[in-house]
Amino acid sequence: MSILLIFLLIATSATLAFGQGTRVGFYQRTCPRAESIVTSAVTSAFRSNSTIAPGLLRMHFHDCFVNGCDASVLIDGPNTEKTGVPNLLLRGFEVIDNAKAQIEAICPGVVSCADILALAARDSVVLTRGITWRVPTGRRDGLVSLASDTDILPGLRDSVTAQRNLFDRKGLSVQDLVALVGGHTIGTAACGTFSHRLQNFTADGGPDPTIAPAFLARLLALCPSGGDPFRRVPLDDGSEGRFDTSFFANLRNARGVLQTDQLLWGDASTRTLVQRFLGVRGSASLNFGVEFGRSMVKMSNIEVKTGTVGEIRRVCTAIN
Ligand SMILES: *[C@@H]1O[C@H](CO)[C@@H](O)[C@H](O)[C@H]1NC(C)=O
Ligand SMILES: *[C@@H]1O[C@H](CO)[C@@H](O)[C@H](O)[C@H]1NC(C)=O
Repeated sequence: MSILLIFLLIATSATLAFGQGTRVGFYQRTCPRAESIVTSAVTSAFRSNSTIAPGLLRMHFHDCFVNGCDASVLIDGPNTEKTGVPNLLLRGFEVIDNAKAQIEAICPGVVSCADILALAARDSVVLTRGITWRVPTGRRDGLVSLASDTDILPGLRDSVTAQRNLFDRKGLSVQDLVALVGGHTIGTAACGTFSHRLQNFTADGGPDPTIAPAFLARLLALCPSGGDPFRRVPLDDGSEGRFDTSFFANLRNARGVLQTDQLLWGDASTRTLVQRFLGVRGSASLNFGVEFGRSMVKMSNIEVKTGTVGEIRRVCTAIN
C-alpha cells in the first residue's frame, strides 16, 4: 500500500470519527450485513402480521420529531418518551430489538438503534410495495428520553398552519409535510382519534361537513357513539395495505379519516401538492414514491447525532 493511500485512509477515518452527518453505506466496512439483517427481521415480522409496516414507519417519525432521530423513543422506563400519550399505541419495538440482537451477535457496539429504526421504516415501505430509497446511516443513539418532550408531536386537531409550523421548525417544507402525511396510505387509526368528527362537530351539533355523506355513514357504523375507541379503521379506505397514491385520492373525495389529513385538501397550499402527487397537474406533477423517499431522507436526518456524540447502545431499550 502506498504512503499516499494510507494517508488518505487515515484522513477519511478521521473525518468519520468527528462526524459530518450521515452517509449511505456507513457500515459497509464495519458491519456489512447490518442492513440485510434489518431487512430480514422486518420481512419476517411483516409476513406474520403486516400491520407492523405502518407501525415502524410511525415509530421512526415519532422518534425523529422528538430530540432528533436518535432512538430515544425506544427507551424503557418511567416517564420515557414511550410513555408519552402520543406514543402509547406505537408498535414494532420487538422487531427493532430482534434486529439489534442479531447485529450485536456479529458486530457488537457498532450499529446504532437509530439507524436500525431508519432502515426498518424504509423496509416497511418496500414491503407494502412502495419505491425504495437509500438510507444514509451513521446516526448515534441519544442519552435523553422524556415523556414531556412528546408534547411537540402533532395533535389530532392541528390546523394546516400548525402542521406546517411544526415541520418548518424541523427544517422540513410544506411538500415534505404532504409527502410524509402520505405515509397514511398504509395503516389504521383508532376510532377515538377521529370520532369527534362524526357528530357534534359543528356549532349546531352536526358532523364534520368535510366528510362525504356515504363515508360518514360507514365511519359511524364502524365507530358508533359509545363504541370501542380502540377499534382500528384504515386511514386509506380501500387500499390500506398498499403504498400508493390512493390516500390522496381519498382526500380529494372527502374520504380522509383523520381531521388533520382531510384539512390538507381544504387548504389551498397543501391541496396543490395533493393534486401534484395525484398527477393531475400535468408538468407540475410529482412522483409520490420518489418524493416520499426524498422527504424521508430529510426527516431521518433531523437533529441527528453523529461522530462521538451520544453512544451506540448495547440494547435498544436502555442507555448503556
Ligand atoms: C396484527 O397485530 C395487531 C396489533 O397487535 C392485531 O390487532 C391484529 O389482530 C394482528 N393480526 C393478525 C392477523 O394477527
Ligand atoms: C356537543 O358539543 C358541545 C360543545 O362542545 C357540548 O357542550 C355538548 O355537551 C355536546 N353535546 C353532546 C350530545 O355531546
